[in-house]
Amino acid sequence: MLVAYDRPMPDTLSTDLASAAVVDRAVRRASGLVKWTKYDDDVIPAWVAEHDLGQPPAVHERLRQLVDAGAYGYHAVDGELVEAFCNWVFRRHGWSPDPDLVRPTNNVVQGVWASVQAFTRPDQKIMFSDPVYYPFQSLGSTTHRDVVKWNLVRDGAGWHYDLEDLQTLLEGDPSIRLLLLCHPNNPTGRVLTSGQLTRIVELAHEHDLIIVSDEIHYDLVHPGAEHVPTLTIPGASSCTIATTSGIKTFGIGGLRCAVTVCGDEQLHAGLAEIPENLLTAPNRFGCEASIAAWNTGDAWVDDLKAVLDANRHRLVDRLHAELPEVGVHLPESTFLAWLDLSAFEPGDRPSTWLRAQTGVACESGPKFGIGAEGHVRLNFGTSPALLDEIIDRLVAGLAHA
Ligand SMILES: Cc1ncc(COP(=O)(O)O)c(C=O)c1O
Repeated sequence: MLVAYDRPMPDTLSTDLASAAVVDRAVRRASGLVKWTKYDDDVIPAWVAEHDLGQPPAVHERLRQLVDAGAYGYHAVDGELVEAFCNWVFRRHGWSPDPDLVRPTNNVVQGVWASVQAFTRPDQKIMFSDPVYYPFQSLGSTTHRDVVKWNLVRDGAGWHYDLEDLQTLLEGDPSIRLLLLCHPNNPTGRVLTSGQLTRIVELAHEHDLIIVSDEIHYDLVHPGAEHVPTLTIPGASSCTIATTSGIKTFGIGGLRCAVTVCGDEQLHAGLAEIPENLLTAPNRFGCEASIAAWNTGDAWVDDLKAVLDANRHRLVDRLHAELPEVGVHLPESTFLAWLDLSAFEPGDRPSTWLRAQTGVACESGPKFGIGAEGHVRLNFGTSPALLDEIIDRLVAGLAHA
C-alpha cells in the first residue's frame, strides 16, 4: 500500500537547487560518473556516497573561468583555501581553527593514514568503530598496526556508541594509541554528542591517546541533532587531528580537495614529519571549487539540507509502512540509510541479492565490518522523484521475496 507523502519539498527551494534536483538518468550516465556507469542502464544507482543535487552556481562559474583561461599550471591558492575553510566552519559550526594549523591535502583519507604513520609506532594499536566507512577496514593491514574495535551497538532505537565499553577497552590495553572517529558516522548517520565527545577527550588524556576525527559529513546533520566539531571540545586541541572537506556537501568528490586540521603546534610538527609527497596538496580545480562553495554556499546548503531531511523522512516513513521487514532507523546525518535486510536472508552479498530482486544498486553492508551482515547502504541524496522510484522498486521487488 502506498502512503501519502505529507512532507512536501520545501517551497522556498532556490531555483539553482530545484533545477539540479531534476535527475535524468540518461544525462547522468553520459556524464561518465562511476555512480551512473558501473551498472546496466536499467539499474538505479544508490550506492556510492555522492549526492545527485549539484553544486552552488559559483562553483561552476569559477571553474568555467579557469577553463576559459586555460589555467592548468602550478598554483598557490592554498592560503585562500584555508581562509575560506576557516570562515565556513566558523559560520556553520562555531569552530575557529588556527589557520596556521590547517593543512590542505588531496583527500580526507590521506590525512587519516598520514596521522597513523605520524603518531603511532608499529607496536602500538589503532582503534575505530564498526560499522564504518569501509576503506578504514584496511587501515591496520596497510600501516602494519593491530586494530582494536570499539563497535557501535544496536538497540530498538538504532546504533549507538557505548562509552563504558570504550573505557573498558582502553583500560584493558595500554598499547592502543590512536582512536579514529567517523563523526558523523558513515553508514549509520549516528552523530556523537558534545557530552560523548567530552568523555572521549577525557579518556584520551587518561590513556595518552591521539584522536583522529574524520568529519567529512559534518555539514549534513539533520534537525534534532547537531554536529559538534571534536576540536571545539575543551582539552581536545592537544590530542586531536580533524580531517574534513567540502566534497560530500558540494558533490565534488572527483576534484580531490580536503584539509587536515591539527589541534596544536606539536601535532602540526608531528604531521610535518610525513613527506610532502605522501601527504599531497590538492589540485587547483578542487581548491577553487571548494573556495567558491565555502565562500558562497550557505543558502544553497540550507536548501540541500531541507531536501535531504525531507528525503530521509520519506524513505523511512514509506519503508516502515510498506516494507516493515526492512530494518531502518531515521539517520541523524548524511544522505545514507543503513538498511537491515536480514529478514529476507539475502546471503553474504546482500547488495548483489538486492540488485537482482529490485534493480536498485546499494553498497554492500558486510564491507563495513562487524555487525553489518545482511545490511546494505542506500544513498537517498537524489531527487524526490527518483527516490520514490527507488522505494517503489524496493517495495515491488521485496514484497514477495
Ligand atoms: C567517512 C568518510 N571519510 C572519507 C571519505 C572519502 O573522502 P576522500 O575521498 O576525500 O578521501 C568518505 C567518502 O565516502 C567518507 O564517507
